[in-house]
Amino acid sequence: MRNNVEMGSSGQRQVTFGIDFGTTNSAVAMLQRGCEPQLARFSFRGEDIPAGRSVLYFEQSKATNGQRRVHGYSGPGAIERYLDADEKGRLIQSLKSHLSNRLLSGTEVFGRRHRLEELLARIVGDLRKQAEVQFMQPVRKVTVGRPVRFVGAESEEEDELAVSRLREAFMVAGFEQVEFELEPVAAAFTYEATLNREELILIGDFGGGTSDFSLLRVGPEVRRRGRRPEDLLGSSGVGLAGDTFDARIVRKLVSPALGSNSEARSLNKILPAVPAWIYAHLEHWHYLSFLRTNNVREILKSARIRALEPEKIEALIAVIEGDLGYQLHQAVQKVKFELSQSECAEFTFRDGASGASMVELNIPITRTQFESWIADDLAAIEHSVDALLKSTGVEPREVDRVFLTGGSSFVPAVRRIFSSRFGQDRIRGGNEFTSVAQGLALSAAARDGS
Ligand SMILES: Nc1ncnc2c1ncn2[C@@H]1O[C@H](COP(=O)(O)OP(=O)(O)OP(=O)(O)O)[C@@H](O)[C@H]1O
Ligand SMILES: [Mg+2]
Repeated sequence: MRNNVEMGSSGQRQVTFGIDFGTTNSAVAMLQRGCEPQLARFSFRGEDIPAGRSVLYFEQSKATNGQRRVHGYSGPGAIERYLDADEKGRLIQSLKSHLSNRLLSGTEVFGRRHRLEELLARIVGDLRKQAEVQFMQPVRKVTVGRPVRFVGAESEEEDELAVSRLREAFMVAGFEQVEFELEPVAAAFTYEATLNREELILIGDFGGGTSDFSLLRVGPEVRRRGRRPEDLLGSSGVGLAGDTFDARIVRKLVSPALGSNSEARSLNKILPAVPAWIYAHLEHWHYLSFLRTNNVREILKSARIRALEPEKIEALIAVIEGDLGYQLHQAVQKVKFELSQSECAEFTFRDGASGASMVELNIPITRTQFESWIADDLAAIEHSVDALLKSTGVEPREVDRVFLTGGSSFVPAVRRIFSSRFGQDRIRGGNEFTSVAQGLALSAAARDGS
């Protein structure tokens, strides 16, 4: 069946597929020759969306014979299941950020060890199955996005490790042929489809895990004459983006409200009430469930008694015991999104369902404060952009347009990096959550010569 569907009489494929397996969101696109890329749709809480969360959720149920069974879910369905569960299981996200980490080979879930590749395979395998149902054909050959540099990769070897793990995950998930394309180059294909003239463009793709840049020549003439390697002048990237911004908000705003700067009396000394590593877990919300141990309970119980601000430790205990990591992270993202729109916002978090005690946080925050918290990250992003211009010998005035995409491109301070170098009128944006997937399908078609 596949041959009938995918091969024309000339032997060229008629259909190509692109999968953007993102740190936060994933999308799948199909391109039929002569048509526009089409996106697979996902359903989340009754809404129809073109990109679903890249998460896994495991829960345990008791079978009639008393034995426990573990069920796994991925994507938007995993979040729904997690939210609806009375007794929360284990949510795993931002898996892509661990791919370059040689020391992290997998994790244990309800007593069973899973390799990282298997966990990823579960997500991308479910994406494949969903796409096959919607597109009504097999999805076996695919072009997959990759960042210029994976989160945490400090050498070529670590970067290659990440790619080979990603490839293995796709193979385990039932794909038969996997090609990789740089994510910003894929986004360039999507932007190019809107052009009727040649341009030298700079792409900036800002996601959850990475910020990636490519400088390339695109346009109808480039397409007509066939792409050449020299059309891609260069790429650069840095392993930080939206997840890092969230962690800064937790460190500077949420953790202090939960006692990170609080002190406790111990004999005649004044010491931090709670050890810093507990707050470090809070910055990666899906690690929060690891804090529900007897050891941490003991530490916090004694901290609450000795603390000069016991109510903050009380709130921390409620967050941990209520396993409110996901809800807390949602509140952090909400205030971050609002700061993309307004100069000031209020961080609000309220949960009384945890049984322990009610947590209620209402903290005003200004965009200026937020920008000061992410200043080092913005400097690293700027450095990566400038390094690309320098290494390619391109002056900002030679760049025709700058296309900014990915969810974190909504952050005004990120956009400013480009408006200050290239001027506001050369900046374009759009398809923030889907440009990479669509471009991957276009890239696959270009590779096939269709
Ligand atoms: N309005 C907004 N303002 C600020 N940040 C936003 C906004 N909307 C989404 N984001 C952030 O964008 C990120 C997700 O973007 P996207 O889906 O492009 O990432 P991804 O493709 O999954 O990640 P990556 O490309 O790094 O693998 C998240 O960190 C999210 O908080
Ligand atoms: Mg992305």
